[in-house]
Amino acid sequence: MESTVPKWWKEATIYQIYPASFKDSNGDGLGDIPGIISKLDYLKALGVNVLWICPFYKSPQYDMGYDISDYQDVHAPYGTKADIDALISGVHERGMKVIFDLVVNHTSHEHAWFQESRSSKQSPKRDWYIWKPAKMVDGKRAPPNNWRSNFGGSVWQWDEHTQEYYLHYFAPQQPDLNWENPEVRKAVYATAVNYWLDKGVNGFRIDTVNMYSKWLDFPDADIVDPSTPWQPADKFYSNGPRLHEFLKEMHRECFGRYDVVSIGECPNTPNFHDVLPFVSTKEKELDMVIQFDLASMDHGGGELRLWHRDWSLRLFKAITEDAQKLAIPEHDGWCTTYLENHDQARSVSRFANDDPKYRVAGAKMLATYLLTLSGTPIIFQGEELGMVNMPPSWDVDKEYKDLNTIDYMVELRRMAGSDKGMLEKGIYGAQRTARDHGRTPIQWDDSSQAGFSTAKDTWMRVNDSYKEINAATEEKDANSVLAFYRQLLTLRQEYKELFIYGMFELHESEDDNTITYIKRNGDQNALVLLNFTNQDQSFVIPSTFKGQPELLLSNLPKAGKHVLRPYEARIYVNKGKRVVNGA
Ligand code: NOJ
Repeated sequence: MESTVPKWWKEATIYQIYPASFKDSNGDGLGDIPGIISKLDYLKALGVNVLWICPFYKSPQYDMGYDISDYQDVHAPYGTKADIDALISGVHERGMKVIFDLVVNHTSHEHAWFQESRSSKQSPKRDWYIWKPAKMVDGKRAPPNNWRSNFGGSVWQWDEHTQEYYLHYFAPQQPDLNWENPEVRKAVYATAVNYWLDKGVNGFRIDTVNMYSKWLDFPDADIVDPSTPWQPADKFYSNGPRLHEFLKEMHRECFGRYDVVSIGECPNTPNFHDVLPFVSTKEKELDMVIQFDLASMDHGGGELRLWHRDWSLRLFKAITEDAQKLAIPEHDGWCTTYLENHDQARSVSRFANDDPKYRVAGAKMLATYLLTLSGTPIIFQGEELGMVNMPPSWDVDKEYKDLNTIDYMVELRRMAGSDKGMLEKGIYGAQRTARDHGRTPIQWDDSSQAGFSTAKDTWMRVNDSYKEINAATEEKDANSVLAFYRQLLTLRQEYKELFIYGMFELHESEDDNTITYIKRNGDQNALVLLNFTNQDQSFVIPSTFKGQPELLLSNLPKAGKHVLRPYEARIYVNKGKRVVNGA
């Protein structure tokens, strides 16, 4: 079966770079492409082998570059086209690969295609976007339906000039392309995809890949919040009737013609049976998808997208088990594993503990989870340093810059009214899970602005934690989170038959405090034990473990025999090639 056939992208560990916050080379307070190039040796030494570069394209930056006005040009403050060429060759010279972000569900409203489309109803490109006349309700103009956009308000924006609404699932500055039109698809393939693949880019992370096909009757969503006309419509955004047809075509016209990887972002698709058609080798659509079940476990679920919800380790395990099933031979697919990205808060603050007493152990414990599962792991910049959320003392209205958070605060204030308790709880949600937490500048050293920039002001404030948490300090410390990542990344390749290609076997699924699993391949097996609490937890070696357990790696010194200490992680193998103590 194909899924056990080795592929470079199965053996990849992806490192995600958010250009604005990675490294500023010219002192303007914003990260840039030369900044990324200056850190390629650091990334090579870390042991990752694929870099995913978030959008660097020309863009008015309403949504940090996920609103692209020219797929072949570069946002000037990030650099030039020559810088991008140098980045591609710099990555390749070091034996790594590079993938870009493909954002073609929507463009920027400043894209030439949209400018032309909105110029008149007769424009040859009118049909490149989704335009609808107003509905008249009680003699007043109203949008075609009641869907709420991902960033709040209606998904329909009124255009004064041509007297129609256009569709935008995200911000009004991100109009949705009309994938029904074959000319649009052709133009997308040529200008946004193959242009870069021809330049040697090794694939794409594909933004909101399951939103291309729309439910063209645009039915009203159920009213769950009568206080607003705009209702959550997540189930209508995704997986429309022609989606799989479009993805097969894109594979034929683009990805299938090169040895590249395609990783689709797939919101609102929790069930692995629904995911299989996207990633099953025989379907020829995508190589793997990014799902959201883990990432959305602790917040949202209604109008208030950052409202905090309690999460349980049982659910965490069930979600993990489900995703791992995609990679088993009979399903013939593949999956990704991630705990952070630019749309998520920092994992050590969310799923472990960022108290200085536990942070290092917690970050290493999560790293052990991330890097011992099958599927392709994605490390988000700064995760390898154990970077934490912004402190709760920071003013949400001043320091948080994301349009999603800003809109959430507007909604929260509207709904809370004079209810101070609700307002506080809502702010707590933002402090735990806002996208901003992953977007603060990378902490390179303990100099001013954490070595990210020489500017007096940076586009987002540097996290106060930089004196303790930074790459330079961690480089010198054999017990740092960074050092542990390097060890784990080496072991992942050394034991790839277990950690990459091994079958996942969950144990103790009902235990609320620890995660226990075996990775198995023939006679070889690895046992992974993870304590998610700040208390000691006892454990037993599962009876299905074959052979004598030998400790391969642990994140704490002098571990008790059958007790895991707070946030302890251990890996046992039955046929260890060597024993490493990460402490
Ligand atoms: C998903 C991206 O990851 C997110 O940052 C962006 O806001 C939306 N898609 C819209 O492109």
